[in-house]
Amino acid sequence: MLRIGSLELDLPAVQAALSGYSDLPMRSVARAHSAPFCLNEVVLDKDVVAQGKLRQRILDIPEEDHPVGGQLMGSQPEGFAPAARDLVRAGYDLVDINFGCPVPKVLGRCRGGFLLGDAELALGIIDRVMQACAGEVPVTVKMRRGIDLGPDAERQFFAILEGAYELGVAAITLHGRTVVQRYKGPSDWSFLRKVKAHVGDKVLLGSGDLFSPYDIERMLAETGVDGASVARGCIGNPWIFSQYRQLRAGRRPEAPNIAAQRQAILMHWQAARDWCGAERARGKMRTHGIKYAAVHPEPIAVRDAFVGMRKAGDLERILEEWYPQSRWQESSSILREGGFDVQSLKSCGVAGGRVG
Ligand SMILES: Cc1cc2nc3c(=O)[nH]c(=O)nc-3n(C[C@H](O)[C@H](O)[C@H](O)COP(=O)(O)O)c2cc1C
Repeated sequence: MLRIGSLELDLPAVQAALSGYSDLPMRSVARAHSAPFCLNEVVLDKDVVAQGKLRQRILDIPEEDHPVGGQLMGSQPEGFAPAARDLVRAGYDLVDINFGCPVPKVLGRCRGGFLLGDAELALGIIDRVMQACAGEVPVTVKMRRGIDLGPDAERQFFAILEGAYELGVAAITLHGRTVVQRYKGPSDWSFLRKVKAHVGDKVLLGSGDLFSPYDIERMLAETGVDGASVARGCIGNPWIFSQYRQLRAGRRPEAPNIAAQRQAILMHWQAARDWCGAERARGKMRTHGIKYAAVHPEPIAVRDAFVGMRKAGDLERILEEWYPQSRWQESSSILREGGFDVQSLKSCGVAGGRVG
């Protein structure tokens, strides 16, 4: 059980906010595969409040999409507050604040990871969001381990961490890389362990390098964090949640066979069409299909097929060619400890990150 404020989750592994990915269709597939909680992709505070289609899309949370968290990015406390209020009114079950994004354009606009270098401003933002949410939903924070590895960055990090809990945030998710590090090198789990020891019984979720249910289990055991935030490891791989459930129940996690892969892709495709119409859904399925390819026994060829997806009918052709009934019982690579075929993940771009 993982408790985040008023939310009680029956699995200590959640689907992270994933820009460009964790929209409603991806979340519904993750939930169907046992994810107990999903975060929407990060949104700008100003896009939440500005009237228009984007606002409508952000605030349209259907009944079946719960519990769901909304993640905000901005640069000033007064921008965050009305956006947080709107997320709560729209039905989000939690509001998360992004102090982690390392993308240069974001940093240049004093957002995301930039705020890890200004504890006073970061705490001002948390304070305003707490007030705006007024105890109706939990407020959480996503952080990297600092701007860089210097002593000043560490001081700022701990000032924000401690101040955030003092202000009453329900949980913090910590990615064990610095902002300047982006995705170079491993996420430093020893730092997660140090921070968990420091914060005691406050709720801390760990992030970084979770590509299999074994990784999730190992992170919890090695660092003591209360939960894991699964990011690249669940793009095109919703089974990671059901596999982690199997592992916790003492069973051997099953790799999805071709029938299960086909079913997940079809479910994603249907959810995407319902959400944004056939044409945009096709673009989304190309993006996600490239990632789904990683669990197929022939990942490179299937990835290339998704890369070449252009027009109506292409997805159906891919399913016919690569996920045919004659192969439904065929299993992908055995789920090994240390991750199912990490080489496949890399070849499909899953293990190399872009943002966050
Ligand atoms: C494509 C992509 C999009 C991301 N989008 C977000 C985001 O919207 N908000 C966020 O807090 N982190 C975001 N992240 C960061 C992840 O949540 C996570 O902290 C990071 O990828 C480390 O975990 P991993 O090594 O298991 O992928 C993103 C990462 C990737 C790869």
